[in-house]
Amino acid sequence: MCGIVGYIGKRNSLPIIMEGLKRMEYRGYDSAGVSIINEKNELISIKKAGKVSCLESELDIDVFNGNIGIGHTRWATHGVPNDTNAHPHFDMEENILIVHNGIIENYKLIKNRLLEEKYKFKTDTDTEILANLINYHYKNTNDFETSVRLALLEVEGTYGIACLCSKEPDKIVVARKGSPLMLGIGNQEMIVASDAAAIINHTKNVIYLEDGEMATLEKGSFHLKTVEDQDIFRDYQVLDFLLDEIEKGGYEHFMLKEICEQPDTIQNTFRGRINFDTGVAKLGGLQSVEEKLYNAKRIIITACGTAWHAALVGEYMIEHYCRIPVEVEYASEFRYRRPILNSDDVVLLISQSGETADTLAALKEARKFGATTIGVVNVIGSTIAREVDAGTYIHAGPEIGVASTKAFTSQVMSLALITLMIANEKKTETPETLIKLANELKHIPEKIAHMVSLKDEYKKVAMKFKDAKNFLYLGRGFNFPVALEGALKLKEISYIHAEGYPAAEMKHGPIALIDENMPVVFIAPQDKAYDKIISNIEEVRARKGVIIAIASEGDENITSYADHILRVPKTLALFAPIINIIPLQFLSYYIAAARGCNVDQPRNLAKSVTVE
Ligand code: M6R
Repeated sequence: MCGIVGYIGKRNSLPIIMEGLKRMEYRGYDSAGVSIINEKNELISIKKAGKVSCLESELDIDVFNGNIGIGHTRWATHGVPNDTNAHPHFDMEENILIVHNGIIENYKLIKNRLLEEKYKFKTDTDTEILANLINYHYKNTNDFETSVRLALLEVEGTYGIACLCSKEPDKIVVARKGSPLMLGIGNQEMIVASDAAAIINHTKNVIYLEDGEMATLEKGSFHLKTVEDQDIFRDYQVLDFLLDEIEKGGYEHFMLKEICEQPDTIQNTFRGRINFDTGVAKLGGLQSVEEKLYNAKRIIITACGTAWHAALVGEYMIEHYCRIPVEVEYASEFRYRRPILNSDDVVLLISQSGETADTLAALKEARKFGATTIGVVNVIGSTIAREVDAGTYIHAGPEIGVASTKAFTSQVMSLALITLMIANEKKTETPETLIKLANELKHIPEKIAHMVSLKDEYKKVAMKFKDAKNFLYLGRGFNFPVALEGALKLKEISYIHAEGYPAAEMKHGPIALIDENMPVVFIAPQDKAYDKIISNIEEVRARKGVIIAIASEGDENITSYADHILRVPKTLALFAPIINIIPLQFLSYYIAAARGCNVDQPRNLAKSVTVE
């Protein structure tokens, strides 16, 4: 999704902006641009469709020389991805330059008004309208900050913006509403960015802008206020992750690194949160809402994509062990379908980025009804994390690959901890069961580490399917969401069509697809659904489908049913999704890599979907 970076200070801004743009590439984008104020106080700008490297190859570093600049990576919403629609955007008179994340919803109305005032437009973007609206207000106020502020007061929709003005060439004006933006405070220099990855190499001291806030940055100082013109005083926070954590560390792709990191990330999710002697889990961040959670008549879990699959696992867990009714909602549907919500409902919002627009909107919807909102979020300080009543961080560390892997397992682990917490309090499980579950939980990191050591075995199977056209993923019970997630992983990075289904549903439709060209992945560990899954495998075999089984170590019986076997360690049902998704992550990774796909930045996808 779009990324913003800007620099003001003593150094040449171009290398800092270009580095920032590269660090945000993982978010997904289709064009990039940069603008600098040069020594003659002129605004100079270049923008190109394609990768940051395309932009870089066209840049004349002698020309793009100055201490103040802004840059952008664009993910198209209004107007096709081309050089013209890329950011930054000038106003008609080329005095104002702006980069923008988000969507101006009333841009047509504003455009018509400006057309009446004889404004002219060169692009199809909503952003160019905003540049001209700032120009319009500048004519009346002769003050850059005030013009931006007045323009924003007219705007409906979402924005994270950074703007330059040739008539006030010593400042950058920035603002946010519904699209993240943070200020990095360095030594006599400031960096503004929509993502900490663009800042952390220069300073760890950051201030997060809240919705409806703006800031004027000058060399070594800044002034924070609301768009309504109220001054704000806020101290900085210190970012607590290392640049190394968001770099590849010797792996070919971030996705592979992140899959292999899971023994550690899963440990980080439960570290200090469970007593292995009693089986009692405690999540500090939920303390203030514990009573609401224990007494909830209903829990609604809402999320998008992979996080939605984790939510589905959460439904199976909480209903099974805590006996509280759970509903799982796509955040994008929830916000528009007039949901029935009460003040004694608890709404869990799961999001890796904490910035997904639909999940954020679902949060706002839940709050409108007075429901208690709980976040299960990875990115610390993200919007959802800050806006929920209470929450728990999953502590998976920065996830750079667009395909979510380690966040999924940590989301599921967080939901398992919440399950254990509620089951203990409501006494829906015996202390012996809780201790047994906690003891198994302790061994999950080593079980994942074992699977990481089997990755070459998984790769051998993957190589046989790199030219497949379709895939079916089938699982039952706790493994049904795993089937959905396995299919999503494959399609998003390899572009092979894949569907996930509950195994028994297959005969109600998808069975028509089975022939000798259809690989079918069965999640078939030796659990209580094992015999049923074997029957489903038989049904596929009878129609010549190719069987790939995710099977328990030591299960010899499976060899007479499956064409290919990916082995997994045995575990309890509560943790089955965490274990069984690992070989599926490897399978999709190796297939996509063998097909030469851009694994970390699949086409059309963004890491964080901050637009509807
Ligand atoms: O940041 P979030 O967890 O809110 O993101 C939700 C989805 O956009 C995300 O899981 C998406 O489906 C990933 N590409 C899946 O790999």
